[in-house]
Amino acid sequence: MEIINSGLFHAWKNNPQGKGLQISNKLYSQAKSFYESVDETLTENTVMYEVYTIPSKPEAGHLSWGLSVLKPVYVNGECNMTRGHFHENLECEEYYWCQAGEGLLMLMDEDGKCWCEEMKEGTLHHIDGHHAHRLINTSDVDLEVVCIWNGDAGHDYARVEQMPFPVRIYKVEGKIQIKEG
Ligand SMILES: [Fe+2]
Repeated sequence: MEIINSGLFHAWKNNPQGKGLQISNKLYSQAKSFYESVDETLTENTVMYEVYTIPSKPEAGHLSWGLSVLKPVYVNGECNMTRGHFHENLECEEYYWCQAGEGLLMLMDEDGKCWCEEMKEGTLHHIDGHHAHRLINTSDVDLEVVCIWNGDAGHDYARVEQMPFPVRIYKVEGKIQIKEG
């Protein structure tokens, strides 16, 4: 029997490494539209989040592995967040696992009802395929979230632009503030 190396590695609280890994950054210049207002103190090149992806075939039965790292950046007090998306294939679920940091997983059903799950080191989140999802960093350190999703899930960003999340999360003088409507 032969024992071989998988070619992939993901040490706890580190980034994935190995064959096929894709890395991308979301800069403030690309994320401005997510926020309620423009923060003139942030440079265009401010890194808002990093995404590490080990992609699979975009077909049913295949699984992708990824890590999202959200920086502790505030936009006029509004907490840093991902763009957020529905899946194109609503039958595809997803797992998020928080390996470090603190934040919120914002969820929204197809009728626009919105709620959050608290994220902290070790919390595990099972996301229904019919729920839009967005990560929010409410802390002063990186929020690191491991994601596992189906190869054929797809990312429908347009749907959350047509029906945006109805709640915004701010941090003012160290306290979380929820702004609805
Ligand atoms: Fe997703």
